[in-house]
Amino acid sequence: MSEFDALMESMERTAYNKWMRNEGIPVIHGYGIEDVRDLELASWERMGGKGAFINLYGMGGATGMYVAQIPSSGALKLERHLYEEVICILDGRGTTEVWQENGTKQVFEWGPWSVFAPPMNSWHRLVNGRREPVTFLAVTNAPVVIDTFRDANFVFNCNHVFPDRFSGEEGYFKESSKRYKNKRGTQTLWETNFIPDIVSAQLDIKKIKGPGWKVTQFEISGNSLIGHMAEWPAGVYNKAHYHGPGATILILRSQGYTLIWPKEAGERPFESGRGHEVIKLNWRVGSLVCPPGGWFHQHFCTGPDPARLIAIRYGSRLHPIGTEVTAQRQEDGAHISTKEGGTVIEFEDEDPEIGRRFEAELEKTGAPCQMPHLGAMVN
Ligand SMILES: [Fe+2]
Repeated sequence: MSEFDALMESMERTAYNKWMRNEGIPVIHGYGIEDVRDLELASWERMGGKGAFINLYGMGGATGMYVAQIPSSGALKLERHLYEEVICILDGRGTTEVWQENGTKQVFEWGPWSVFAPPMNSWHRLVNGRREPVTFLAVTNAPVVIDTFRDANFVFNCNHVFPDRFSGEEGYFKESSKRYKNKRGTQTLWETNFIPDIVSAQLDIKKIKGPGWKVTQFEISGNSLIGHMAEWPAGVYNKAHYHGPGATILILRSQGYTLIWPKEAGERPFESGRGHEVIKLNWRVGSLVCPPGGWFHQHFCTGPDPARLIAIRYGSRLHPIGTEVTAQRQEDGAHISTKEGGTVIEFEDEDPEIGRRFEAELEKTGAPCQMPHLGAMVN
């Protein structure tokens, strides 16, 4: 039995998996998904629309995901739940109504590529005001919550209000301009409970990842489940690195591929005869990629445009799980070279086959290579 068959079998036994099966909609598996907008959805009684769960290997029971569709001129059923949820609109326009038990209702509008998060256990309802269906992707920490309580009735029918997260403040779901460097200046944080369009949102330069990289982390709705958006030029890739499970990546722009391989296959898997363990996931707009915990992963943009992604994951700086030191270490670990005890393979240490394959891919698309260590002249 492969490592992943074993993982999937053990995941099948969890309360979250049993709950997913009981919901009566498809559960889709894989390392990634080519276009999340193309999935076969089925009627979803509890939600009132159509949907499918996505359970990628790399989510490892740390995060959950589903795609749902709101019928034209219709709405999903009202719901609240004791897990966090980050919603990304894939297609269509509509509104969300949100309120706390006995609180005032707030309504905000969204369109394609808007991102928001109904605060934990707040009542919320998604409404489609148009004739075209609305499709959205939701990433949750439901697996952790449902596996802990093992009681869906409690998770979906609890009266507790969390006023520290949301107490009906006016303008809560407006795009915020609160952006700042974190304490050590390594990451720009954007505290906002609404992002109108993640494809055009302004990002901040962060060369540490590779030439021309921009990254901005967003903190949303008092969640520990947050995310970041990253953008990088055509003909560029980042340094391979690994971290824990659960980070889900949605591609927003351009095309390329991601290589993933277990860290046990080493820093130079091709050179050491373990190249067969390297998996290539091709991507374009709408693709999902989820690097398994402890697997090196590396993102390559083959152009013609700069690539952009959104990653939804743990690692909040405002509401870290564990301590902020843990969050810091996790983030630093993904920035510190393997030579210094981190998890990043520096370009000069990487398997030469990585660069050769990238150049071969660029031949096909015609985008120029912009990687200095492969001989590109970059200013
Ligand atoms: Fe990563």
